[in-house]
Amino acid sequence: MSELMEMLIRRGFLWQSFEIYGGMAGFIDYGPLGNGLRRRLENLWREFFVINERAVEIDTPTVNVEEVFIASGHAESFTDVAIECQKCGKVFRADHYIKEKLNIEADCTIEAVKEIIETYNLRCDCGGRFGEPFHFNLMFTTSIGPGKGKKGYLRPETAQGIFIAFKRLLDYFRGKLPFGVAQIGRAYRNEISPRQGVIRLREFNQAELEYFVNPKEKTHPQFERYANDVVKLVDKFDNEYKITLKEAVEKGIIAHELLAYFIGKTRRFLLKAGIRDDRLRFRQHKDDERAHYAVDCWDAEALTSYGWIEIVGIADRTDYDLRKHIEHSGEDLTVFVQFKEPIKVKKLKIVPDLKKLGPVYRKKAKAIAKALEELEVKDKNIEKVTVEVDGEKIEISSEFFNVEEVEEEIYGEKIIPHVIEPSFGLDRITYTILEHSFEKDTVDGEERKVLRLKRWIAPVQVAVLPLLSKNEFIKVSLELVDMLRNAGIYTEYDDSGSIGRRYRRFDEIGTPFCVTVDHQTLEDRTVTIRDRDTTKQVRVEIDRLVNVLKELLSSEKDITEFGEIFKA
Ligand code: ATP
Ligand code: GLY
Repeated sequence: MSELMEMLIRRGFLWQSFEIYGGMAGFIDYGPLGNGLRRRLENLWREFFVINERAVEIDTPTVNVEEVFIASGHAESFTDVAIECQKCGKVFRADHYIKEKLNIEADCTIEAVKEIIETYNLRCDCGGRFGEPFHFNLMFTTSIGPGKGKKGYLRPETAQGIFIAFKRLLDYFRGKLPFGVAQIGRAYRNEISPRQGVIRLREFNQAELEYFVNPKEKTHPQFERYANDVVKLVDKFDNEYKITLKEAVEKGIIAHELLAYFIGKTRRFLLKAGIRDDRLRFRQHKDDERAHYAVDCWDAEALTSYGWIEIVGIADRTDYDLRKHIEHSGEDLTVFVQFKEPIKVKKLKIVPDLKKLGPVYRKKAKAIAKALEELEVKDKNIEKVTVEVDGEKIEISSEFFNVEEVEEEIYGEKIIPHVIEPSFGLDRITYTILEHSFEKDTVDGEERKVLRLKRWIAPVQVAVLPLLSKNEFIKVSLELVDMLRNAGIYTEYDDSGSIGRRYRRFDEIGTPFCVTVDHQTLEDRTVTIRDRDTTKQVRVEIDRLVNVLKELLSSEKDITEFGEIFKA
């Protein structure tokens, strides 16, 4: 890891933020290459989770009014248990500290932490004793507007912006379920003691999809796409399986098809992004581990030098969030769903007796009759009812109406949709891709460091290199750079140092192809293309270069399909 980190910093992938002021744990800068890689990852995510679904992407504020998180439960429940040393004042996240020092997976409750501290006489590194464990809310607070202002929070997840806009979104989808709404953006958590570099940030990037469905239909029309994919699962009882998604649903290991669909889709996305299948698994949350809004959750976990880390959480949030926002905002966030066939139900209905109402209630009789017809009653032998006419409450006794049983056709019902949420941490995925791609091998008797990034993820896609630093070679090379950049290929140019050194430089940052301008180029307008992974080279006419590179960059085709092998 240290070799990889050294390279990532030196080559401009990731830097410590606020470096000239001593830095601050939990914040990172993406340098040019890291930023390029994360942007490509985001676009790949869009292909999978927006373009490929009945889904849209929106963008909502990162600063939220406090009402949002009071309703969602985060103001009360989005906490970790912390412990503070009474001697040096250092604060630690209790479960992490216990795991690090005692290798015990502690329950995240105050009582459990207290018991462990007492049982094992757990002390701070400085030898000091810990005080009472306490809940620490992870949300950053802020104040909106001048003076005292209005209390606000920086969002700890992008999801709430989607729930808040649900009414508008439902209109956008013309009232029909299922649909998905995605958001890619920053999230903020005031992590207690982030000591895992890139893995635990206080400001990070999420890509989330909220997939709204009828609770009776937790299926997906495209489940067949992934049904036969074999996945590695660890359920909440620590049972391990290597099983197809179809079987996992049939055996009840995964609760329903929709969760299984998103596990399958997430896996395919992660593999396409460059995560290795042999270092990927899906682990179900234990009952005491789940967030306050979830009834079930499966994490995609990747094996890294930090151990197994969560990179994606796929949760069944039920109707929790919409229900809470209905309660707190008073807005109707329900959806009318039509039955496949209308159903007939027997109902009691009041039939007013106008002949009797007229003489007694005179001018009001018609309005009273109308109000009576609209009343719902449950008891056939009801003795009196109260109706409201022009703001006046009037009690009507049963001599003025009959209650009859009628059959009515019902076409649908109002429901609160359920939400399945795949939530991706883009920073952790970016870092994992880098770890899983970083290798060393030997080329021409020399050790090289190579980043075997997937071609479509690499931040620099092509490097153009003049074999010699002579004007005639440079001129053609710069023309090629222009041509490739105009074709939308991210291209760099390098003419400093030996050609071997330059190949190594681009191998190290994962550039899949180097194009070299050599003596023959000047004679027949051909160039060589070199493959980073195999180091094989082929000769290709300049006229075909853009098309060949585009095809190579969007596939895993072998370079030798495109030209004669060239030996330098
Ligand atoms: P952890 O248990 O590691 O704290 P979490 O269960 O709180 O993570 P979620 O709340 O499920 O994480 O967040 C969804 C995704 O956001 C995670 O899968 C992870 O990739 C990412 N994420 C969460 N917290 C952080 C963080 N502090 N830094 C970077 N990414 C994060
Ligand atoms: N939206 C899931 C999470 O951030 O916890």
